[in-house]
Amino acid sequence: MERESAPMHILNSSQFDRPFLDYICLLTDTIRRFDKSKEGLLYLRGLLAHKRAMLYFTQPSTRTFLSFQTAAQILGMSTNEIRDSATSSERKGESIEDSLQTFSSYVDMIIMRTAVPGLCNRIAAILDESERPVPIINAGSGPDEHPTQALLDIYTLNRSFVRDGGIDGKTIVMVGDLKRGRTIRSLSGLLTNYQDMRIVFVSPTEYKIGDDIRTKLQKANVRFDETDQLQDALTIADAVYMTRVQDEYDTEGESKKVDYSRFHLKFEHLKLMKEKSVIMHPLPRRAELDVAIDADPRAKYWRQERNGMWTRVALLTKIFGVDHKIVLPEL
Ligand code: NCD
Repeated sequence: MERESAPMHILNSSQFDRPFLDYICLLTDTIRRFDKSKEGLLYLRGLLAHKRAMLYFTQPSTRTFLSFQTAAQILGMSTNEIRDSATSSERKGESIEDSLQTFSSYVDMIIMRTAVPGLCNRIAAILDESERPVPIINAGSGPDEHPTQALLDIYTLNRSFVRDGGIDGKTIVMVGDLKRGRTIRSLSGLLTNYQDMRIVFVSPTEYKIGDDIRTKLQKANVRFDETDQLQDALTIADAVYMTRVQDEYDTEGESKKVDYSRFHLKFEHLKLMKEKSVIMHPLPRRAELDVAIDADPRAKYWRQERNGMWTRVALLTKIFGVDHKIVLPEL
């Protein structure tokens, strides 16, 4: 049997370049306009009504799972899910590779979140050699990568700075567990696509950003600083990106020994920040982001969450090649 050509997988944030990011942002903006009318929504629902997606999420998830599932539904796709490997034949000793190959027999796309870095890439390579090479989307791969979160973060930043020259030239302050935070790692990679960026990494010594990201930024000539002084960094931030401690990756409860309270964004810190700055968080939050901040106009995390759904709608149309059915305005 003749094999189909390799599909478009979404595996790592490094696969996106600036034209792709600009395109996805424009496509997302355009698709959102269809949400304004019944006709628009019915049109979207017809675009992928012939496609089926599998959501294989064996790490906890609220937003990423729901926003992917809802994005698929907006485009008319049907979805199946496994949310615990204990309910699949992995329990009977089936390898994860065989399980995923099985899913590909039934669906047209696999969206997966697992604790295993690199697994999505491995599965994509296996499926590319199989009779049913379906697209694989990495919806979070352990402490490694979360490329679709990074896309929605870029979309949110872009939208926030639309009247202020875009993302180029901005200072982004990233706070928290930078070592194990996959959102930070993927977003830092994407920021190398922009001009004159400055990143300030704020973290306890134990959670400093990984060497691989440092090397990536150095190679791309992105200016970055590392500090444990949150308040100083806040004064120069155009965007502050907060994150929680990723203690699910602790081996022996080591996070309990780290004083994280110095890396909490509190209501009283708001006065240090520029009037036009934005506050982001991939969520879920804990004490690192004061709920009193929600009412401040600079808080963008609830919007960021909703942006995620629309960015994923745009991405799905692109992966299945129906994006040309969305008429884009002239650039
Ligand atoms: C993040 C994740 O899963 O990496 N959440 C998300 O996808 N929105 C952040 C986190 O769990 O801290």
